[in-house]
Order: sequence, then structure tokens, then C-alpha cells
Amino acid sequence: MKIDVYMPREDSHLLQKEVLNFAKGSVLDMGTGSGIQAETAASLKNVKKVLAVDKSQAAIDFCRDKFKARKIRLLKSDLFSKVSKQKFDTIIFNPPYLPEDKVKHPALDGGKKGYEVLERFLDSVNEFLAPNGVVLIVFSSLTNKDKVDEIIRNNMLESELLNSAHFFFEELFVYKIVKSDFLKEFEKKKIDDIHFFAAGKRGIVFTGFFRKKKIAIKTKHPKTKAQHSIENEVKMLKKLNKHKIGPTFVAKGRNYLIYEFVPGEYIKDWLPKTKKSEIAGVFAAVLKQCFVLDKLKINKEEMHHPLKHIIIDKNIIMIDFERAHKTKSPKNVTQFLQFIRTNAGLLNRRGFNISKEKILEISQNYKKNHKIDFVLKELGL
Ligand SMILES: C[S@@+](CC[C@H](N)C(=O)[O-])C[C@H]1O[C@@H](n2cnc3c(N)ncnc32)[C@H](O)[C@@H]1O
Repeated sequence: MKIDVYMPREDSHLLQKEVLNFAKGSVLDMGTGSGIQAETAASLKNVKKVLAVDKSQAAIDFCRDKFKARKIRLLKSDLFSKVSKQKFDTIIFNPPYLPEDKVKHPALDGGKKGYEVLERFLDSVNEFLAPNGVVLIVFSSLTNKDKVDEIIRNNMLESELLNSAHFFFEELFVYKIVKSDFLKEFEKKKIDDIHFFAAGKRGIVFTGFFRKKKIAIKTKHPKTKAQHSIENEVKMLKKLNKHKIGPTFVAKGRNYLIYEFVPGEYIKDWLPKTKKSEIAGVFAAVLKQCFVLDKLKINKEEMHHPLKHIIIDKNIIMIDFERAHKTKSPKNVTQFLQFIRTNAGLLNRRGFNISKEKILEISQNYKKNHKIDFVLKELGL
């Protein structure tokens, strides 16, 4: 017997029970090891074929000698790297899930934090999963359950805890994972390569490709209490796009919004390393957009702190309009002036000759006369 091969233990048996309950159709057993899950799946009538994958040659050799079922095929591969493009109805993975300092068997070394291999698996599994397919995994309380849950959510997947059990120093969890309704809907719309991009307080943004164009999909954050933020942003973008403000709106659905992805850098990363002439051009462009918003009587909110709300590329695009609202006294220009004031020190180091007092004076003046040309001239932009 090859000692490098992981012989079935508590985790294997806990997962095996659910393989018996859920495996169907075309099955992939990732990290097959001794082949226990692959053979269990193959024993089921409603399983047509099984692909057993492992990156370890020892496991492949061990299974080749052992597998009797003609339904099972073996493949040596690091996760999905050698698996040809196809959809499976069931994907099983008992991954290496322990942080490297707690590992007693090499087949359980999940990386520094324990969830790295599982994360790589979950980041790709969707491409190989049929629309109504299921993924069955087992992992431990030492893997960082919150992080695993987050990775699942970030891939637009949903999990259900099927079973858990205590063994000495750890608790084991068996999850059934399926595609979320969002994901199924987007796949039907032929949006592919969907990946988590960023999470804010109210929304989670994913990127994807639609007709070869990169898009951003903003979905409602499951934890937000904010009502109608998506609907509001849709309404605002449709209106503001006519004035060349905001990312280009593409489509909307229940609890999501799609717009063209905006490449470039957040103003917070761009500003500290940029020279005077470029800063002047960008600030002038932002102030002009703020002025249009003021004239439309729309307050974007948070323009005094737009660190991740302005993206600089060939174009200067403001993003995140979920809190934008109609008001009699919008404050976009004055708030952005406040942002410039906060950065007065940095601007002076870049060669601007402008004091905080002067910016305050310009702001007070704007409140009275609403003249953007005056603001730009006084700032030397
Ligand atoms: C904990 S064992 C599970 C074995 C078996 N499936 C079971 O349930 O007992 C993890 C298995 O995953 C394999 N493995 C680890 N990293 C892998 C990777 N990146 N790609 C494919 N297999 C991997 C290991 O070689 C090992 O056989």
C-alpha cells in the first residue's frame, strides 16, 4: 500500500454519506485519494460516469490498481487544470483543508491558512457545474468557516450545511453547494466568467463578460437594510448617462444592475502619485460633473470623501449612485471642494499655490453665485 495516499478517515465517511444521498448523472470526484467517493458514486444506479481526479501520482497509481467499476475514469490534474470543458451534475471534493502548521498528513495541507486549495477550487467550480448541479465538500472548523462562507457567496454560489460532527480537536462540516438564482439567471443571459470584484456596504459587485465586453454586475448586499438602492441607482444612471455622467447602464433585473465595467484607478490610489498638470485636468473634470449634478438638483452624497467613487482612466467616471437623490440644495461642488481642501497639503507639495482658507472662500462664493467658471479660475484649474 502507498503510504502517500490518504486512506479514508472520519471526513471521508461523513462526506461519503452525502455522496450516497446526492450523487447523480455525471460526477467529478476532485482529490480522489483512495477513490472512496468515486467508487461510492459509481455504485449508484443514477450515476452515469465518474471522473476521478488527483494531483498526486501515488493516488492515481493506487486507484488504477483498485478501481473495478467501468464507469470511472482517472485523471492526474491540479484541480481543474487538465479537466476538459464539460458540465458535471455532481462535483465532490474532500480537499486538503488544514492550515499547514496543523497538518499531520500531506493530503490535508490546505496552504498557509488552510482554505487556499478550497478557494482555488470554489473560484473555478462554477464553470464545470451544470445549472442544477450540486457540489459536495467537507472541511473543518480549523479551515475558517466564515472565510469559506464568504468565498462561496463571492462566487455567487449558495451553501447548505448537510451534516457536522465533532472529532477531538475540530468540527467537520459537510456542505451542499448550488448555483444561486442570480448565477443561473446571468448564465442564461450568456454572461460568463463571473467573478467577485468588490463589496461595499450596500452592494456586492461582480465582473463578467457579455458579448466579449467586460461588465460590472452590482447586486444587493445580503446584509444591507437599505431598501431600493439598486432601483434608485438604475433610475439615476439612466438619467445621468444622458449627461455623460456615471458608468454606462446596460441592464437591470430584480435586485441587480449591470453597467459597463469602468477600468482605471480609484482617485485615492491615483492622487498621491500624480503630477500637477494631470491633477488639475481631473479636478476640473470632476468639478464640471459635480456642477451638472447640482444643476439637475441631484445630490450624489459623499463627494467630500470620494476615494473609491471616482475612477480615473482616459475618462473620469463617477460610480456608485445608489444614495443619489433629488434635493433643493445639492452639495456636490462644495463637497468636492471640501475634498480638495482636505488634500491641500499634498496639492501644495505638487506645486499648487492654494491655501485651505482660499478654498473655503471659493466654496462660500459658489454657494452664493453658483458659477463653476469662477471656481475653476480661482483654483487655477
Ligand atoms: C483529504 S484527501 C481526500 C481523499 C478522498 N477523496 C477522501 O475523501 O478520503 C485530499 C486529496 O486531494 C488531493 N489534492 C490535494 N490538492 C489537490 C489539487 N490541487 N488538485 C487535485 N487533487 C489535490 C490529495 O492528493 C488527496 O488525495
